[in-house]
Amino acid sequence: DFQLPLAGRTVTISAGGTREPLDPVRFLGNRSSGKQGVALAVAARNAGATVRLLAAHMDVAPPAGVEVVPVETALQLREAALAAAADSDVVIMSAAVADFRPAAVSDTKIKKRDDRDDPVITLVRNPDILHELVELRNSAAPGGRQQLIVGFAAETGDSDGDVLAHARAKLQRKGCDLLVVNHVGTDKVFGQDTNSVVILARSGSEPQEASGTKTEVSAAIIGRISGELNSVSP
Ligand code: C5P
Repeated sequence: DFQLPLAGRTVTISAGGTREPLDPVRFLGNRSSGKQGVALAVAARNAGATVRLLAAHMDVAPPAGVEVVPVETALQLREAALAAAADSDVVIMSAAVADFRPAAVSDTKIKKRDDRDDPVITLVRNPDILHELVELRNSAAPGGRQQLIVGFAAETGDSDGDVLAHARAKLQRKGCDLLVVNHVGTDKVFGQDTNSVVILARSGSEPQEASGTKTEVSAAIIGRISGELNSVSP
């Protein structure tokens, strides 16, 4: 019988960029468009998966046929991700999560006052959600649900070799199973419709390159994930 590669699987995907509030009208954000995460959600859905999209700020609409959990901040995304992970076969962290948030959020709009010094914003570190997901998975009872955890890394570097070396170190540090690596420059990737990535595996198998539209890249990533899942649990 013909079966879709991710039939019966639940895939959680975070997408977009978190927004970290300063006051009721202002936030610190980033340039993530959500396009890659949404393309992944479409690819996973088309592969037969039940898809949950943890949607931080996105420039694009979420696709039909997936459950959408809207989030704003890194802390909200963390809550949503840890909860969703409990029944997910795959978790893909493609959201651009702010590494820091303002230490204090003003209840009222911060005012401009000529008799005061220029304001200083103090930042505190956000938790590394990807790393926490890995710890949670690894601490689960043996024999429990097998879970594949996929991270993304946007790396800058003078050469591809440089970028790969950084990415390998990050893969070890984060402990995820796959790391999708983007080599970014200022004009690259964010908001664009195309992407060029290398997929690194912790198992040490050969790095896999994929490039093209974000749809094509997503198909390659989801294909790789399906392969990994179906090789461990037939
Ligand atoms: O360390 P870096 O930010 O480069 O790692 C990127 C990966 O880690 C992405 O998969 C991103 O979604 C995830 N991340 C996270 N929590 C953070 C920062 C990044 O889950 N606070």
